[in-house]
Amino acid sequence: MGTVFLNGELLPSERAMVSVDDRGFLFADGIYEVTPAYRGALFRMERHLDRMRNGLAELRIGYDPAPLVDVHNRLIEANGLGDEEVSIVYVQVTRGAAPRAHAFPTTPVRPTVYAYAKAFKRPASAVWEKGYSATTVPDRRWARADIKTIALLPNCLALQAAVEAGTNDALLVKDGVALEGALNNFFAVIDGAVVTHPATNHILHGITREYVLELCFENGLRVEERPIQLEELWLASETFFTGTTTEVRPTVKIDGRPVGDGKVGPVAKKLQAAY
Ligand code: PDD
Repeated sequence: MGTVFLNGELLPSERAMVSVDDRGFLFADGIYEVTPAYRGALFRMERHLDRMRNGLAELRIGYDPAPLVDVHNRLIEANGLGDEEVSIVYVQVTRGAAPRAHAFPTTPVRPTVYAYAKAFKRPASAVWEKGYSATTVPDRRWARADIKTIALLPNCLALQAAVEAGTNDALLVKDGVALEGALNNFFAVIDGAVVTHPATNHILHGITREYVLELCFENGLRVEERPIQLEELWLASETFFTGTTTEVRPTVKIDGRPVGDGKVGPVAKKLQAAY
């Protein structure tokens, strides 16, 4: 994977080693972030840092992520990604390594900080224009989906179910409400309004979601932040997912049933173009 960052230094990925006592490995005790860079320029890094600060505070991990901006830029440079159309930087911070015990270590431990950067390939426009499909999957995550923890097993199982159903995305459903995807936020266009779940503890507060809402305002599109009932999907003219690795991804089929006329719609096209 080229040059990565681990605990203060850049090094070849084959030399990056983490303790078997790391609480990230033993308990998924940590947070992560994925930030895009366009032609080497980090996009909305401050918002990613804010989300990291919130997550670290919620998990009570004492670590200041501010110096990670420099780490992100150094990784982009060290891996020759400055000219890539899109690249992504992954970073994860765990509480650190300590003999396995559920409660926090009683003597201070140094958080483990790992990051890598890689090129991100956008889908071919012909693929995007055909549209994507999704499968509804029960949301089995904990009650703090707003914290970007590395505990992603329910997300992995949900996406695997979607893949095994021959589709691209999992649409997580709880109490009859379509919340978000396994790795992206969800939008529906209903009665001409762009609708998405409010930023509560039930969803991750996506930076792309926030940006797409701004683009809606700029483009004169009416926005409603409210829960979307599953039955409403069949009244929607369009649906789409948003995320760092998703951008705006139009979903034309959910559980085998066409959304609207089953074609990529004008709102998704407008937003992806603006994006
Ligand atoms: N996932 N919802 C979930 C559950 C996510 O995991 C993500 C991001 C999003 C979108 O957030 P953003 O727009 O800030 O990328 C929504 C990342 C990309 C991942 O897990 O790889």
